[in-house]
Amino acid sequence: MTQNTEQFQNKVAFVTGAASGIGLAITKQLLDNGAVVIGADVNEDRLKELDKELGSSFTAEKLDVTKESEHEKVISNIVNEHGKIDFAFNVAGAQKAGTITDLSLDDWNFTVDLVLNGVFLGMKHQAKQMKQQEHGGSIVNISSLNAHVPMYTGSAYASAKAGVEMLTKNGALELARHNINVNAILPGLVNTPLVDDFKSGEIHEAFMERIPMKRPAEPEEVANPAIFLVSEGASYINGASLLVDGAWAVSGYPDLSRWF
Ligand SMILES: NC(=O)c1ccc[n+]([C@@H]2O[C@H](COP(=O)([O-])OP(=O)(O)OC[C@H]3O[C@@H](n4cnc5c(N)ncnc54)[C@H](O)[C@@H]3O)[C@@H](O)[C@H]2O)c1
Repeated sequence: MTQNTEQFQNKVAFVTGAASGIGLAITKQLLDNGAVVIGADVNEDRLKELDKELGSSFTAEKLDVTKESEHEKVISNIVNEHGKIDFAFNVAGAQKAGTITDLSLDDWNFTVDLVLNGVFLGMKHQAKQMKQQEHGGSIVNISSLNAHVPMYTGSAYASAKAGVEMLTKNGALELARHNINVNAILPGLVNTPLVDDFKSGEIHEAFMERIPMKRPAEPEEVANPAIFLVSEGASYINGASLLVDGAWAVSGYPDLSRWF
């Protein structure tokens, strides 16, 4: 993205999952464009490093997105310090995988709690604050291509990501009247630590057979459209699902049962 240090001057942005991958790329692009950024994550060690690396416009907050009291505390800290939240990006996510017949209820609950409940709790407390602001705000949720396309051993993750897509639409329906835009990005394969298992060997080749662009996205290639969705240029986009997948959705998922 062309760096435009004016674009987000005086804007306050909140990013979950900010310590790695897509969340970190979004954080850096927001900072490059002049925003103040509060980055939250469970990974406190990495947050401490980022606090030193990213400069004075960045503040790190420890947050487990599955804990409502922690959301309340972080939002309260942001409002006390900056008086508002203009943009929120709900990015944190991971999964515990397993076929439906082998998956424990604990592992199912872990994934749904993190991926779906975590976004619900984020939106709930971000939007409560944005509703009090005359200018409203913008929320971007990171869903997945798996909201539309199932993945072998990924039933909990894909179901939760489908939930995030619908939660986004419901958010737009309820919040548009408060000047709040809520949109989802559905990434395909992105080059982050989350997908280390898919980065080499036959399994990588199987993904490349399916992805027409023949490569994963770099995190910045997902951050760019995420940033666009909170910009002035996206002012009439609300309740949308944006696939960012190198045309993967048009070709289907590889058969992962060969590996798992
Ligand atoms: N990488 C991909 O191919 C891909 C594809 C589609 C969607 N996604 C989604 O993108 C989002 C970001 O993933 P990524 O690829 O950047 O992964 P990543 O592993 O690089 O980053 C995820 C971050 O979330 C944090 N996190 C995990 N549990 C948390 C919790 N309970 N509370 C707060 N933070 C927590 C981790 O510490 C980590 O910093 C996730 O929602 C993921 O499901 C990723």
